[in-house]
Amino acid sequence: MSEWTEVGRIEDIPRLSARVVRAEAVDVAVFRTARDEIFALRDRCPHKSGPLSQGIVHGSRVTCPLHNLVLELTDGRAAPPDEGCTETYPVKTEDGKIWVLLPGS
Ligand code: FES
Repeated sequence: MSEWTEVGRIEDIPRLSARVVRAEAVDVAVFRTARDEIFALRDRCPHKSGPLSQGIVHGSRVTCPLHNLVLELTDGRAAPPDEGCTETYPVKTEDGKIWVLLPGS
C-alpha cells in the first residue's frame, strides 16, 4: 500500500539535480527542474538500469548518464524514437516541503 511521505524541502535539492529516497526495495529519484518543478521517478533506467538520479536534467526531461536515453520526467516515457518507460510517483508540495506517494510504504 502506498503512502504520502515527506522527503525533504525543495531547497534540499539543487536545481537540475535529484536526491534518492529509498522506499521498500525501490530507489526513487526526486528531481528538481530549473523552474522548481518536482518529479519522482524510479531511479532505474528502462534500458540497462542506469541511475537516472545522476543524469542530466534539461527542461522537464532527464538524460540517462549511461547511454543517453532521454526520459520525460512527467510520465517516465522515453522520448521518441527510443522506447521504454520507468515508473513515476505522484508528488505534492506544501509550505516548501516535498511529499511523494511512495510505493509500499
Ligand atoms: S542504462 Fe540508461 S540509457 Fe542505457
